[in-house]
Amino acid sequence: MVTSDQEPIGTAVSDIDTPVLLCDLDALEHNIQKLSEHFAQAGKRLRPHTKSHKTPAIANMQMAAGAIGVTCAKLGEAEVMADAGIDDILIANEVIGRRKIERLMALARRCDIMVAVDHPDNLDDLEQAAAAAGVQPRVLVEVNIGHNRCGVDADSADVVDLCREAANAKHLRFTGIMGYQGHVVDLEDKKARETGANECLQRLSSCVARVREAGIEVEIVSTSATGDYYISTTYDTVTEVQAGSYALMDAAYGRLDLGFQHALSVLTTVTSRPAEDQVITDAGLKSVTPEHGMPDVRLPSKEGIDVGWDPKGLRFLECHALSEEHGRLQSVDGPCHLEVGDLIEFIPGHGCTTMNLHDYIYAVRNGRLEAIWPIAARGKVR
Ligand SMILES: Cc1ncc(COP(=O)(O)O)c(C=O)c1O
Repeated sequence: MVTSDQEPIGTAVSDIDTPVLLCDLDALEHNIQKLSEHFAQAGKRLRPHTKSHKTPAIANMQMAAGAIGVTCAKLGEAEVMADAGIDDILIANEVIGRRKIERLMALARRCDIMVAVDHPDNLDDLEQAAAAAGVQPRVLVEVNIGHNRCGVDADSADVVDLCREAANAKHLRFTGIMGYQGHVVDLEDKKARETGANECLQRLSSCVARVREAGIEVEIVSTSATGDYYISTTYDTVTEVQAGSYALMDAAYGRLDLGFQHALSVLTTVTSRPAEDQVITDAGLKSVTPEHGMPDVRLPSKEGIDVGWDPKGLRFLECHALSEEHGRLQSVDGPCHLEVGDLIEFIPGHGCTTMNLHDYIYAVRNGRLEAIWPIAARGKVR
């Protein structure tokens, strides 16, 4: 729902109140198209991770471009995506505890949900709850292929045992295996990233082979992210990929040079010029998150969004600190001519957590507002 303080569709970007999240539609469409084409050519399936944008409108664009379904990190996100009409949903995470498991079973009544498990106790809880609710959700066994977060050790005998137990559960449909290599997917050093991803994918492949040798059918093998999608699609074992950040991108992933464009920015206004080389803006920690580094800075042109690097090609402004409601920028190449009231764009270091700070994202093209999308899964951490 559009609220009364929101600008009408067609408003020039230069007239939009700040701070505000912007989505450059041309860049978003380019990114979605590029990855869809890759998956179509590779004969693999793409199940985009929606934790990156938390926005049903973007998820539906990904579905329209050929995604088979979506991945979510949390049950609450999955509920939002089901509300948006998406049927095939993976929660790539463990769902623990009575309350959440009851919600999961309720969700299983209205979409084809699939959830990760990594422990027999959780499997038992899911089995009992599914029996009580009269549903049959799908489960994937999560294996640890090196990220050391969730998952059964991929090299252990426990994997086969847990898969067998899941396959024998009457009210669950054992569908396959997932493993995530989050410790390598965003490495800037290409060689280290590719070597690391290959090691993890080989570990995943041999684990799947052992489960199959034990006579257990594995239909889905789900893995990977934006930084290694093109590596995972070369593996016969892998059936689908969970890339998320590629759609909107962020400054950290931008440094990997993957061919995706920056669709996401925070538009912010210069509020103070305390010194010739200092600029203060109205976007701070409550508008952009810094955990993958400070935001990159670019300037919108008068006509709208344009990469306004200075003529010498230098990064002439750097954001060096964020406080709650202030961004502090320093010119790195002499005095800076920005005035109070001028607009700046921040490209967030990490897009996924920045999205979670905002209720809406403004979709813009050619310097004009084209749509305002609710970030409906923002704050859905339960
Ligand atoms: C389990 C899982 N799969 C996939 C992804 C997608 O990663 P990216 O946004 O880097 O594409 C993540 C990101 O945190 C994740 O946790």
